[in-house]
Amino acid sequence: MKILSRAALPALMLGVSATALTAQMVEPTTPPPAPEFSAQGEPVFVNRSDMFEYRALESYNEPEFVSAFVEAGMLPPVAERLPAEPMVYKAGNMPDGIGDYGGTLRHVIGGRPEGWNYWGGQSQGWGGIDIGMTECLTRTGPLFTINPEDLEPMPNLAKSWEWSDDGMMLTVNLIEGAHWSDGDPFDTEDIDFYWNDIVMNGEVTPLNGATQTTYGEGTTLEIVDDYTFTMTFTTAFPESVLYNFAYGNFCPGPSHVLKPVHPSYSDNTMEQFINAFPPEDMGFPVMGAWVPVEYRADDIIVLRRNPYYWKVDEEGNQLPYLDEVHYRLSTWADRDVQAVAGTGDFSNLEQPENYVESLRRSAEDDAPARLAFGPRTIGYTLYPNLSGNGWGEPDERAQAVRELNRNADFRKGITQAMDRVRLGESLVKGPFTVQYPGGLYAGTSYYDEASTVFYPYSLESARAHFEAAGLADTDGDGFYNWPEGMMDGGNVQITILANTDYQTDRNLAEGVVAMLEEAGIQAALNLLTGNDRDAAQNSGRYDWMVLRNGTSLITVVQNTTELAPVGAQTSLNHRANADGELDLLPWEQEMVDVVNAFIGSRDAAERSELMSQYQRLYTENLYGVGLTAYPGALIINKRFANIPAGAPIFMYNWAEDNIIRERVYVPADAQADHELHPNTLPGDDGPVTAG
Ligand code: GLA
Ligand code: CA
Repeated sequence: MKILSRAALPALMLGVSATALTAQMVEPTTPPPAPEFSAQGEPVFVNRSDMFEYRALESYNEPEFVSAFVEAGMLPPVAERLPAEPMVYKAGNMPDGIGDYGGTLRHVIGGRPEGWNYWGGQSQGWGGIDIGMTECLTRTGPLFTINPEDLEPMPNLAKSWEWSDDGMMLTVNLIEGAHWSDGDPFDTEDIDFYWNDIVMNGEVTPLNGATQTTYGEGTTLEIVDDYTFTMTFTTAFPESVLYNFAYGNFCPGPSHVLKPVHPSYSDNTMEQFINAFPPEDMGFPVMGAWVPVEYRADDIIVLRRNPYYWKVDEEGNQLPYLDEVHYRLSTWADRDVQAVAGTGDFSNLEQPENYVESLRRSAEDDAPARLAFGPRTIGYTLYPNLSGNGWGEPDERAQAVRELNRNADFRKGITQAMDRVRLGESLVKGPFTVQYPGGLYAGTSYYDEASTVFYPYSLESARAHFEAAGLADTDGDGFYNWPEGMMDGGNVQITILANTDYQTDRNLAEGVVAMLEEAGIQAALNLLTGNDRDAAQNSGRYDWMVLRNGTSLITVVQNTTELAPVGAQTSLNHRANADGELDLLPWEQEMVDVVNAFIGSRDAAERSELMSQYQRLYTENLYGVGLTAYPGALIINKRFANIPAGAPIFMYNWAEDNIIRERVYVPADAQADHELHPNTLPGDDGPVTAG
C-alpha cells in the first residue's frame, strides 16, 4: 500500500486539491536540542597585561643573517629599527617559552590575490595572508584567552587610549618610533590618510568594509601630533569603536606609497588607485611580520620576515621567530588534505565534508599534525536581499523578488521549506551539525534560547505561507507563479548566490535549491568564485545568498554595526540605494534601535537584555534564515611551538590571528628545510641578500 502524506490524506477525503488546504501553518517553537559536542582543549585564561607590555629593553637581538645586512650597511642596527618602547611579549604567557629563529610556515589557500591594495578593497587571497601583513590599532583575535573581567581589545598600534570625562572624545596614543617594513616612519600621517582618504571617501571601501558608521554616525577624527589623534562622537562612550579598531577595520595602510597614487593627490582615477599595486609588485610596505617577496600566479606567494617589525620577546629578540611564510595557491579543501598529510602546516578545518577523513588520519600515531575541535562557531545563513528601493539596481524580476522577500509570509515559507537535519547530514553524519534558527549562535555569551524563534520544517506550512504571500500555481506545473500582471504570470524564479570555492557552500546552496523546489519555488544557483561573490554581495546584486557568517553573530562586540542596517553600508543584506536611502521594514528599524542602544550602553545587564530583544527580532522576522552550525578544528603541524591551548578557528577573528603567529616558532632541532629564499630580506623586486 502506498503511504499517503498527512497533507494528501485529508485532501483526498474532502475531494479537493492539496493546494487548496492553506490552513495548516505550523507554529514556531524554541530550537531543537543540539547533540553534545565538547571542545578539545580549554584556553588558559589570563589578563591582557599578562601577555605583553610596551617597554624598552637593555639590548635587542636579531637573526644572524639579518646582522649581515646591518654589517653591509644595508639596514640600520636593530635598536634603531625598533620603537623606543617596543611591544614585549612576556615569556610566562608563551605556551612553550622564548623561541628559536628560523623555520617556515606553509599555508595553503583557496583564494587568489587581486593585489596589495587592501585599502582599495582588494583581497590578497584570504587564509590569513592579509592578517599577517596588516596590523591594526587594536587586536581582538587572542581575546579568546582573556579573563571575562578584563575583556577589552588589546592595544596594538594604539598603545593606549583615554576617554574624556563625558565620554564624547577618545584620545588615542600610537606606538612611537615604529617603522613600515621599508623603514618609513609609522605615524599619524598614516591615520590621517586612512581616515580622510579611505574611510571618509565615498568612492572607495577598504577590504573589510569600514565606513564612518563603523565608528558611529557623525564621528570625526583630529590629528593632534605625530603619535596622537582624537575621535569625537555624537554619543557617549561608544566602546565598540575599540573593537572596530581591530582587524579588519582600522588597519592603516602605508600613506607614503598610497597617497601619491590616490586621486585626491594625483591625476589617477579611483580605479587606477585601486589597481596600482598588482600581486606582481614585490616588497609592498607592511606593519605586519612578513612582507611579500615572490608571487607566481596559481602557484605561490612567499613572504619573508619584516626587518622593522616592532614586537620583541622578553629577551629582546626581535620577532617574528619564523623567517618565511608560504601561501600555496590551491583550494580550501586541499588546505585540509595537505595539513593532515604534513605537506602543508595549517588549516582551519571548517568544511564538514572533510571531517571524517581528517579525524581518521590525525588519530594515527605517526600523524604529522595535531587536530583540535573548538566550539560551534561556523554557521551558514540564507539571507534575503531586503532592499526594496534599488540597492544593486534590480531588473523587473529581481525587483519582484525583493518585494516577496519583504513579505513575512514569503520568508516564513522559505524557512519552513528547509529540512535542516537533511542539510546537516548532507555535509557530515555524526554529532557535528545542529539545526540553526539564525541569529546569535547557541553556546555564545549573548545567546538566549528563550528569545530564539525556530520555525520547524514543514512543506505543508511552507506552502501555506507562500499562498498567504499571494502566490498560486496557476499553470499547475508544481511551481508557484507570479500573481497576474507580474512577470507575465510565469513561475516565480529566484537565484541563490553562493561561493564556489568551498564545497560546503556549494553543497548547502544545492540543498537549498532542491528544498525550495520541493516546496514549489523554482530556484537557480549563482555560483561565483570568492572575489566575484564578495563583489556581488557588496553591490547588492543578488536575490538570496548562502553565506558563512562572520564574527558579529558569535561575539556581538566585534563588528557590531554589521548586526543590523544601522548605517547605509553596514548590513550584509540591506544597504542603501544610490541616493543613500534605506527602506527599513518596521522590525528592521527596531533591530537598528536595539543595536544602537547596545552600542550606547555600558551596563552589562542591559546589554544582555538588548541582545535577547535582538535575537527575537532577528529569528521571529527572519532577517536571515539560519541553516546549519557546527564546530571547526584547528590543524597545525606538530613541529610548531607556542600554539595557545584552546585556540578556536573562529571567534573574534580567525585562527591565523588567534594563535599570534609572530610568537610561533619551530624548535631549532625540528626545523625542516622548507625555506625558498634563505638568508634574504624583502626588497622592491623580491628577496635581497646581504653584501
Ligand atoms: C578564509 C578561510 C578561513 C580563514 C580566513 C582568514 O575565509 O576559509 O578559514 O582562513 O580565510 O581570513
Ligand atoms: Ca507554475
